[in-house]
Amino acid sequence: MIIDIKDVSWKRDNKTILNGMTWQVRPGEHWSLLGLNGSGKTTLLNLVNGYMWPTTGEVSVLGEKFGEVDLRELRKKIGWVSTSLQQKLYGHQTAEHIVLSGKFATIGLYDRTDDQDRGKALELMTFLGCETLLDRTYDTLSQGERQKVLIARALMAEPKLLILDEPCTGLDIFSREQLLQMIERITEQPDGPTLIYVTHHIEEIVPCFTHTLLIKKGEIYNSGATADMLTSATLSSFFGAPIEVQRRGGRMWLMLGE
Ligand SMILES: Nc1ncnc2c1ncn2[C@@H]1O[C@H](COP(=O)(O)OP(=O)(O)OP(=O)(O)O)[C@@H](O)[C@H]1O
Ligand SMILES: [Mg+2]
Repeated sequence: MIIDIKDVSWKRDNKTILNGMTWQVRPGEHWSLLGLNGSGKTTLLNLVNGYMWPTTGEVSVLGEKFGEVDLRELRKKIGWVSTSLQQKLYGHQTAEHIVLSGKFATIGLYDRTDDQDRGKALELMTFLGCETLLDRTYDTLSQGERQKVLIARALMAEPKLLILDEPCTGLDIFSREQLLQMIERITEQPDGPTLIYVTHHIEEIVPCFTHTLLIKKGEIYNSGATADMLTSATLSSFFGAPIEVQRRGGRMWLMLGE
């Protein structure tokens, strides 16, 4: 089991943010997560990353039960890309340093790296089409360039699990399509990571995402095969509004109905 979450709740200030969530991700699956603002997606992923502890329930990731595992070691097997990570990074570091720091899953680069590490960083940046940015400091990069550097960073430790929390935020339509193609290529690699992809835009849920989790007000509303979740009927009741799903070129597009 890649992720095994059993009856997990998370409370803060007497408010229940996540309530009784049970979710399992098996090897070979790639999941997309859908839910309105504030529904609990990022909180759930923070629990998966071990950045937060569940108030009740059990979390196991990559076969390791939280509470019994060294989280710093486990985090090296989990790649993470999100805009909240962007804010934590040091802007004066070069793109190369940011990518290299992924090897140690640290913010900032403190550990020694060798030629092999630098070769790997270059290879990943080339794979993502951002190798020309190697010597540029992070704060001079555009939003799209930053996202590519962050994905290269996340792949540096050869993670078993790759969490992408709204990775297409701020990307123009061409950069977005490029990024989605790269994401599909990542899933085609043998021994590649299991992907968890959070988005508000269902057209980003490319065919490699086999499963979809629908989260509403801190609870799992429904989960299962993407084709069963992304239907007009399911999404209309999920959002409580008339929704029409249109299929085109293996992708789905949302229309608000009358
Ligand atoms: N540390 C915290 N203390 C109090 N409330 C919190 C905390 N972290 C999150 N919340 C609240 O929990 C709810 C879920 O937040 P979360 O960030 O998980 O939502 P989300 O589904 O990722 O939303 P978005 O689509 O806007 O990113 C929100 O109402 C948020 O304000
Ligand atoms: Mg969020």
